Amino acid sequence: MVEFPALACPIVLAPMAGGPNTPALAAAVANAGGVGSFGFAYSTPEQIRADLAATRALTTGPLNANFFVFRPVDPPESGAVQRALAAVAALPGASGVPVAAPVPPFFPDLRLQLEPIWQARPAFLTFHLGLPPPEVIERAHALGICVGVTATRAAEARAIAAARADFIVAQGSEAGGHCGVFTPGEPGDWLAVRELVRAIAPLTELPVIAAGGLMSGTDIREALAAGADAAQLGTAFLATTESGASAAHRRLLLGEPDRGTVLTRAFSGRYARGLRNTYTDRMHSADVLPFPLQNSLTGPLRKAAAARDDAEYQSLWAGQHYARCRDGSARELVRRLLTELDA
Ligand SMILES: Cc1cc2nc3c(=O)[nH]c(=O)nc-3n(C[C@H](O)[C@H](O)[C@H](O)COP(=O)(O)O)c2cc1C
Repeated sequence: MVEFPALACPIVLAPMAGGPNTPALAAAVANAGGVGSFGFAYSTPEQIRADLAATRALTTGPLNANFFVFRPVDPPESGAVQRALAAVAALPGASGVPVAAPVPPFFPDLRLQLEPIWQARPAFLTFHLGLPPPEVIERAHALGICVGVTATRAAEARAIAAARADFIVAQGSEAGGHCGVFTPGEPGDWLAVRELVRAIAPLTELPVIAAGGLMSGTDIREALAAGADAAQLGTAFLATTESGASAAHRRLLLGEPDRGTVLTRAFSGRYARGLRNTYTDRMHSADVLPFPLQNSLTGPLRKAAAARDDAEYQSLWAGQHYARCRDGSARELVRRLLTELDA
């Protein structure tokens, strides 16, 4: 086991794969005494190495590298692929976009992605959607890296403790991005963050990091009062200057408080919370391939929408309380969060 290091401030920047995490954003949080994270799920080893090196040039504070772990899926039968393709190709926003059946490899190889981690040795290594192989936890421990895993229910927290991980990220149902539930499919009974922390904290000695809908210092204080050791915030940082979120993403976060969020599997094949848009509405009951095949299938559509600054066909992950997003610098946001926390 590696002991969770004492933090000067109880704020963890959420790992956010797909662009929002930048070296400047991670460094801003780490320099304030919190943890600067990267969601590296979709990154190549070269990108991972470059991001960590660029961040190291900006901070000596604690960093967290985060990956997805999931069971490989069997190739679906061709009828299922054709139905999923047809659903996406029929969308008005897919006009002129080359929508094609996904071809392997559907996802980066975790073993290769971890090579730069073993060299750079960030303080934290975290996993989402399931448990990493035991040898990964052992190797991290041998290098002094503290390992965390997301739990969305008590049973997952028990499994994380039994796997000898060092801490638990308790992700409540308000959270933006992918639901970390270990089994693909609907998350089912998913508690809101404070109730989840109250359910998980007494089960283990491990530190618990609360995640989901935490937007202010008051929210953080309440999560700590429920039994959390620190708070992980994603959506709150999306609209900051240092965030790599797309222009459309920022525009809706700051300017469309009534749009609302939905939990959808139509973008990637696994349930994730994001801003409601034409895609989530039209694909609500469409045929969808399992994760990560649906993610590959929708990649060109999402990329084309981002290039034409079209919010209606991008996956704009956001937590339920996104309407309380604040712009300005991440450094300033951390300062305000800490002032509110102490108030
Ligand atoms: C844009 C975005 C991308 C995310 N990507 C990841 C990820 O790659 N890995 C991960 O463990 N969690 C990911 N999450 C979930 C966060 O870790 C965290 O649970 C969530 O942000 C907490 O809810 P909040 O967004 O309301 O703060 C993502 C969240 C968002 C908003």
